[in-house]
Amino acid sequence: MIASQHLRAWLVAAALLLPAGAAFAQAQPAQNEFKPEPFQDGKDVVWVPTPQALVDKMLDVAKVTASDYVIDLGSGDGRTVITAAKRGARALGIEYNPDMVELSKRNAIREGVAGKANFMKADLFESDLSQATVITMFLLPEINLKLRPKILDLKPGTRIVSNTFDMDDWEQDETATTKADSFTQYNTAYLWIVPARVEGTWQLAHGELTLKQSFQMVAGTLRTGGKTLRIANGRLRGDQISFTAGGAAYSGSVGGSRIGGSVKAGRAVSEWSATRRTGNRVSSPKSR
Ligand SMILES: C[S@@+](CC[C@H](N)C(=O)[O-])C[C@H]1O[C@@H](n2cnc3c(N)ncnc32)[C@H](O)[C@@H]1O
Repeated sequence: MIASQHLRAWLVAAALLLPAGAAFAQAQPAQNEFKPEPFQDGKDVVWVPTPQALVDKMLDVAKVTASDYVIDLGSGDGRTVITAAKRGARALGIEYNPDMVELSKRNAIREGVAGKANFMKADLFESDLSQATVITMFLLPEINLKLRPKILDLKPGTRIVSNTFDMDDWEQDETATTKADSFTQYNTAYLWIVPARVEGTWQLAHGELTLKQSFQMVAGTLRTGGKTLRIANGRLRGDQISFTAGGAAYSGSVGGSRIGGSVKAGRAVSEWSATRRTGNRVSSPKSR
C-alpha cells in the first residue's frame, strides 16, 4: 500500500528516536490482550502514535473545552480521544482496525472516561463528521487532501488539527510545536478553521461588495459613493470576516446570507451590514 509505505518512510526515523515508554500514554495491556505494534498496517495509513506532548498541544491549539465534540480520524489506541475526554469534551474515535477499537475502549475504561470517550470501527472516509466542533488527525498529506472538500463543507468555525501533515495550498491558521526532544521530527500541530463561504456579491445600504475567496483569504472590491475601493487584508476566521477598504476597517459575522458588524474609520465606529446577492462557494480548484 503506497500510503502506508509513505508514512512508514516518513516516520521510521522518528520512531527510532522514541524512547520505549513514550509511545504509549495509556496503561500497558494485560497479558493476552492485543498489543499494537508501531507501523502495523492500517487501511490507508499505518499506525504510529502521536507523542502525548503533541496530543496535548493539538488540543491546546484547538482550544478544546468541555463544550466541544472532538472526532479523531484514525484514532489508533485512543489517546487523543481519551485526552479530549479528560478535558470534559465528548469525543469519538473513528478507527478501521477492530482490535484498535477494542483496545481504545479498554484504555478509556482504565482512564476513567468511558462515558465521554467513544470509539467506532469505521472507515474515516465514509463517516459523518458534521457534528464535530474539532477534528484531529495524524494521517498523510494525500489523505488530508482527499478529506479537504468534506472538511470545507463542515460548519464554519470547526477547528481541524493535524499532526505534522498539511493541507497543501490551504494555509494553516496557526502552527504550534512541542519541544524538539525525543520525537524531533513530529512535534508540529497545524490548525485550520473552516471558513464561512462569502464569495460573491453582497448588497450594502450604500454600496456593493464583491468578494473573491480562497479558503480563509478574501479579496475583492467595495463600490460606494461612486468609487471602487480595493479590499485589503481580507480574512475569515470561521464565520468572522475582517478587511480594510478605503482606509476603513470592517469586521463582522457571516450568518448564511447576511453579514453584520462594525466599521472603524479613524475614531468613528459605525455599524454595517450586507445581504448576499450572488455566489456561495469557496474558490479553489482543489476544494471540491
Ligand atoms: C498514524 S496513526 C494515528 C493514530 C492516532 N490518531 C494518534 O495520533 O496516535 C493512523 C491510524 O489511522 C487508522 N486508519 C488508517 N486508515 C483508516 C481508515 N480509512 N479509516 C479509519 N481508520 C484508518 C490506522 O489503523 C491507524 O490507527
